Amino acid sequence: MTRPTHRAKMGALAVMLTMGSSVALAQLPFMRNMYTGPVVLPQVDTREPVEDTIAVDGDWLRDRIESQNLSNPVPNTPEARTQGAQMYDVYCAVCHGATGQGDGQIAEHYGRMPNLALPYIQDYTDGWLYAIIRGGGRSMPPFAHSMSVNERWSLVHHVKTFEVAGLQ
Ligand code: HEC
Repeated sequence: MTRPTHRAKMGALAVMLTMGSSVALAQLPFMRNMYTGPVVLPQVDTREPVEDTIAVDGDWLRDRIESQNLSNPVPNTPEARTQGAQMYDVYCAVCHGATGQGDGQIAEHYGRMPNLALPYIQDYTDGWLYAIIRGGGRSMPPFAHSMSVNERWSLVHHVKTFEVAGLQ
């Protein structure tokens, strides 16, 4: 094999340079850059969320004090309480117990597992309970990503049905 001459090298370099500039102009399909790729361009609406995506919240993130006077947008109907009970069984019972008495399967691993039927918790406003469910606590996980806004408010209705065992 013969070594390429200086002239051949310069010729190849010239071809590469010409290609480079024409590619910049033509944007060949296999040379995608940030502009031609599948991006949301400025001043263009964001894409529709994937079907069944759960929004973290429909409005601003509020803490307990900011939430305490929110009124529950979900009417307190048997259907809402049934939905709340389903959420409770899935997400809460493992810690707080099936009837809220603080006796779930893993409750013993926590220093304190509140009994949700106690009067001081039953006296919490709907908004306060909602904020606890949404944001969690010190050891309690947040449930912002697990339930829709309405499912959380339905769960509040269900929590309000708990009664201290043995008192009624
Ligand atoms: C992993 C265990 C765990 C799960 C799951 C859990 N909690 Fe909790 N929860 C706790 C602990 C522990 C506390 C005490 C405060 C803290 O350490 O966060 C608490 C506190 C609370 C409080 C406030 C009690 C107080 O004394 O003010 C409420 C209300 C509550 N949980 C409701 C719920 C509801 C409703 C669910 C289901 C969405 C739930 N929790 C899921 C562990 C859990």
